[in-house]
Parts: sequence; C-alpha cells; structure tokens
Amino acid sequence: MEKIILTGDRPTGKLHIGHYVGSLKRRVELQNSGEYDKIFIMIADAQALTDNADNPEKVRQNIIEVALDYMACGIDPEKTTIFIQSQIPELCELTTFYMNLVTVSRLQRNPTVKSEIKMRNFEASIPVGFFNYPISQAADITAFKATVVPVGEDQMPMIEQTKEIVHKFNATYGETLVDPKILLPDNEACLRLPGTDGKAKMSKSLNNCIYLSDSEEDVRKKIMSMYTDPDHIKVSDPGKVEGNTVFTYLDAFSRPEHFEKYLPEYKNLDELKAHYMRGGLGDVKVKKFLNAVMQEELAPIRARRKELEQQIPQIYKILQQGCQVARAAAAQTMKEVKDAMKINYFDDAALIAEQQQRYQDAE
Ligand code: TRP
Repeated sequence: MEKIILTGDRPTGKLHIGHYVGSLKRRVELQNSGEYDKIFIMIADAQALTDNADNPEKVRQNIIEVALDYMACGIDPEKTTIFIQSQIPELCELTTFYMNLVTVSRLQRNPTVKSEIKMRNFEASIPVGFFNYPISQAADITAFKATVVPVGEDQMPMIEQTKEIVHKFNATYGETLVDPKILLPDNEACLRLPGTDGKAKMSKSLNNCIYLSDSEEDVRKKIMSMYTDPDHIKVSDPGKVEGNTVFTYLDAFSRPEHFEKYLPEYKNLDELKAHYMRGGLGDVKVKKFLNAVMQEELAPIRARRKELEQQIPQIYKILQQGCQVARAAAAQTMKEVKDAMKINYFDDAALIAEQQQRYQDAE
C-alpha cells in the first residue's frame, strides 16, 4: 500500500510556534525522509468558514499567510502538494455521503467540538456546518487515501471519528476507504505548547503567541516578558520548573548543543533545571538563553519568509497547481466511493442491460 500523508490548518491567522513544534516541523522532516509516496497539505478554508461565516475576508487574507509560513518552514512544493480545501468539490460530495453514517449524538460527544462550542458561545445555536466539520474532516483525510495524519493533540478526536466512518463505510459498502493513523509529536512539551502568558493554549485573541513571522525584536520582547514561576521572586529563591513556561519552551526547543554554544556552564537542561529548583538562578538568565535558542531556530524561517514575500504571484500559482493535483486524487477516490455505493449509474453497462432485460423478460 502507498504511504500517503494528508494534513492541514485553518487559515484564520499567521502560524505560530505552537503550530511549528506541534506539527509543522515534523511534517517537514517527514517530507524530507523520502519515506512517503505522496504528501498533501491542505489550507482548510472551508473549515475556517464554519466558524467565520461572517468574515470571509479574514479567511481570504490568511490563505497566503499560511502558504508563506509553510514554505518558510521548509515545505517544498516539489515534494508536497499544497492546496486549498474549497477548490476540491469532491470533499463536499464525500461529506454528504458520510453524514449518513454518523449520528447527531456521536458528533455531540466529540470533545474538541464540545470545547469549541463553549469557546465560541455557540451553545444556544450551533451552525450546522460547524457541527458537521468532523465529518468534513473525514472527507479531507479519506479523499486522499491518507495513511498518516501528522497533527497536534487537539485533532485526536477528529481522527478517531474519521476511523469510525471508514470502518462503517467499508462494512456497509465493501472495502473502499483507507484507515488513517494519527502521528503526534513525541516530545511532551510539543504536544501542547502553552502561550507566553502560561495559559494552556496559544491563541490570537489572548495575545500570547509568538508567530513564525515575528521580528527578532518582537520575539525577544515576548520571551523577556514571559510567565515563569510567580513565587520565584529573588534570584536566591528556589523556583518551580513545572508549569513554568520558559522551561516548557526549553523542553520543546533546546538541545545539548545549545548549552555548549550559549550556556557552557551547564551540560544540559536537567542541570539548568536543577539549579533553578535549588535557587540561585535568575529568570533573566534563563530567558536570555531561551531567546538565543529560539532566535537560532526562527532566523532561517524568517529569512526564507522575507524572500518568499517577494514572490506572491508565484505562490498563488503553486497553490493553483496544487489544487489541480489534489483534485485529480480526490476524483479517483470519489469514483471508487460511487462505485461502492452503487451510484455510478452511467458507468455500469451491466446495470443498463439488466434493467432492459427485466422489462423484456416481463413481456
Ligand atoms: N482541523 C484542523 C485545524 O483546526 C484543520 C484540518 C482540516 C485538518 N482538515 C484536516 C487537519 C484534515 C488534518 C487533516 O487546524
């Protein structure tokens, strides 16, 4: 069986370092591993519209931002098909048929949808399109016969729901769809990188994100004002590293070579943490180290983005070509689905002959 990756992001803003460590970095590694036959990355504009129906301009503006962020991080359109969800009508067709295989109560139990409904104050009146988006996500994944879906932890319920739809479809109509596997980051800190204020999630509205496109100065400022341990007041005080955002970020970003380069008095993160917990290590020193580490990681991304920002028409061209490639792949699956569901009336010569025969026999 071919090894195929499908993944994507909603274009509701620029991508931040939570996206980067949670999934984007891994996608680039997978792309460059040469282990996959096909890789698709989708800009999920149709899904973004499920809770931004009144703000199409926001979605429209952010398509190019997400494409720039992808390519700046190393997604290479020669190796990966980057495309836009709304341009693939087969995804809507598949969604419609999958809707027959899912119950309302099952959708209501999806924990990600549940928490999003709360966050958006949709409790009183949930738009049907929004409620339905896990089914549409199953269409995204299965249309491309994805075997692997590299995403953040919050997407786990979507993949579970997709697997259920695949099983139900195959049991009902015959073996047709491919069962996908989720691929999560293996580093604990990367699973759910907190915001710079220590809150559980980075979010634009909370103003606690570090964006891939932030300037060097912005990144430095955000790091220097980051949430740490509120009880660590004097340098000599013992400090907590658990729930301390600076250390969570170091868990996600730092490697032993960074210590050699920027903080040679410590061998590794464990030693630095031990000193902090003992007391005698100030926040500023740790933050300055984190800044050095993160600037090293972000500088090449920022530089590539600056170059790409001068080639906007070419990037739209790349997206357009990506949509053509994606459309062909989805159309093939659509054909197989229609065959399995017996809604292929005009491709089935036997059906037409049979129907004729039935009437002739009756005479
Ligand atoms: N739900 C994803 C997000 O919020 C975006 C997405 C849409 C997606 N379809 C997908 C991710 C299919 C992986 C596979 O970012």
